[in-house]
Amino acid sequence: MTEKDRLKWIYSSKDNQELAERYDRWANDYDTELEDNYGWATPRIVTDLATKYVSTTGRLLDAGAGTGLVGQCLHEEGYRDLVGIDLSEGMLEKAKQKKVYRELYQMVLGESLNFPDGGFDAVVCAGVLTFGHAPPDSLTEMIRITRPQGHIIFSMRSDAHEELGFKERQEVLEVSGRWKLVEVSQLHQAFSKKEPDILHHVWVYRVL
Ligand SMILES: C[S@@+](CC[C@H](N)C(=O)[O-])C[C@H]1O[C@@H](n2cnc3c(N)ncnc32)[C@H](O)[C@@H]1O
Repeated sequence: MTEKDRLKWIYSSKDNQELAERYDRWANDYDTELEDNYGWATPRIVTDLATKYVSTTGRLLDAGAGTGLVGQCLHEEGYRDLVGIDLSEGMLEKAKQKKVYRELYQMVLGESLNFPDGGFDAVVCAGVLTFGHAPPDSLTEMIRITRPQGHIIFSMRSDAHEELGFKERQEVLEVSGRWKLVEVSQLHQAFSKKEPDILHHVWVYRVL
């Protein structure tokens, strides 16, 4: 498969099962393809924002951890209590090999997550709340499992924000007192080498 087709192939998955199967098949080549060929910048930006708001002693959930690129960046910054979840067993297997997560589970964002209320100091999420991936309902569960005054840090394509209903959901959650916006990053090129025109923000919320 050519690199250009790769994202198209991922985004055209018809349901979560097909998406998981496609990520399973991509898992072995994901790190080299994304970092070397696409210039995947978002894990670093999400991590930089985490260092600003979340103590290194905190318990963090990496939601849609994939092969563990965010976990690897967080681990380099001194975070040790890292939990990862992902739809794809193949991606989780690669994440396990990095030996930076204390726990890894197969779970689906958009469904109920098997974690207690308020158990995390922060949830981080890079490249997952997007077309054909995890829906706005994921945000409600992220809030439930984060302690009051904890943080939720996630990246999002600027076009997906409004088109997929995230903008409306984020605002409803703020108006209803579930969380408060703390910071939105500058727009950045997540795939700087292949999709320079598609821009992403990273959003930081504090749970109330
Ligand atoms: C583009 S990758 C990003 C992985 C990692 N966060 C990174 O920055 O490299 C998207 C990941 O989200 C996972 N994913 C997609 N939809 C999901 C869902 N509804 N629930 C859990 N994981 C999901 C995929 O399996 C894949 O590993």
